[in-house]
Amino acid sequence: MRLPSIGKILLFGLGGLALLGLAALAVSEYALRRAYPLHPERAAAAGPEAVAEGRRLAKLYGCTSCHGAALQGLRYNDDAGLVRNYAPNLTLSAAKYSDTQLAQAIRQGVSPADRRALWGMPSATFAAITDGEMAALLAFLRSFPPAGKPTPGDNPGVAARIAVLRGMMLPDGGRNSDPARAGTQQPAPLLVAAAARHPPRDLGPLHQKGRHLAMTICAECHGSDLGGDVVEGGPDLILAGAYDRADFVRLMRTGVAAGGRDLGLMSAVARDDLRVFTDEEIAALHAYLVARANAGG
Ligand code: HEC
Ligand code: HEC
Repeated sequence: MRLPSIGKILLFGLGGLALLGLAALAVSEYALRRAYPLHPERAAAAGPEAVAEGRRLAKLYGCTSCHGAALQGLRYNDDAGLVRNYAPNLTLSAAKYSDTQLAQAIRQGVSPADRRALWGMPSATFAAITDGEMAALLAFLRSFPPAGKPTPGDNPGVAARIAVLRGMMLPDGGRNSDPARAGTQQPAPLLVAAAARHPPRDLGPLHQKGRHLAMTICAECHGSDLGGDVVEGGPDLILAGAYDRADFVRLMRTGVAAGGRDLGLMSAVARDDLRVFTDEEIAALHAYLVARANAGG
């Protein structure tokens, strides 16, 4: 019997690795391109009188932070050049899509053009936006005439593809475990489904407004049930239970946390976006978060 030469072992080894690499590429390509169902939506853009409220909501939801103040798109992530994410030019999307299709992209996280999953678009948080809020938001989007260039497509590099494969290797493919907690990139429709399974505690009609604000705004970084999000780094909002009203108002309006601390991303978000909250909204949010903390989170 002849033993295989070192050369042959190397050759087969390299061939095997190349095959594995190709298989990984094919699987991640499938995950990136596979078609998701699109559900009907009833949303219709409101008239020009709603544009100002739509602009305020777009700030609170962070649309303008990712897509740009003029909505012409931004590169919002550049992971050492491995994966570049662009939030697309929404003035072009608005010209291309109907109200229903825009609402599908926003609330369901699925591209109306080819039904592929949107990646990096926080639709899990936006799924709870009401038809009334959506009407104002769409009026705002439609107030921009098409302008600027399309953003380049994402280049899902090695790191992103590994994240995709890791996500698929979660127990049960991430269907029952909370993918938002798994610290990996996930397709938006999967996150929408996970968020629906993990809503924040319902404390009745008295706290409905505060809960709704937390679900549609804070959950993006604090987790769908407000119990923390390892990807975005927001802690369990049980922490807000220790804030009295004055300190909470200061955090929302100026980004200065209790004890005069600066909180990095949180402080920046408050200064840039959350400052457009009304006094009533801050009061409702604070009351809900205190009640949630008292109920054990
Ligand atoms: C954290 C950043 C981020 C935030 C916040 C965000 N988006 Fe996006 N959005 C994205 C990215 C990234 C994509 C593209 C995803 C892809 O193509 O896979 C996207 C895609 C979209 C699309 C689909 C566009 C098209 O032509 O296919 C629409 C519509 C959209 N966003 C609207 C909104 C609105 C409205 C808001 C606020 C309610 C918002 N986005 C908030 C990052 C963001
Ligand atoms: C864009 C992401 C983002 C959004 C949106 C966001 N947060 Fe945060 N938040 C963070 C991060 C990150 C931290 C942790 C900061 C740290 O400890 O350095 C944090 C921390 C906090 C804390 C802890 C403060 C402390 O004393 O340590 C509170 C309270 C809080 N956020 C409330 C809110 C509320 C209420 C909302 C919704 C209105 C909200 N956040 C929306 C990212 C966010």
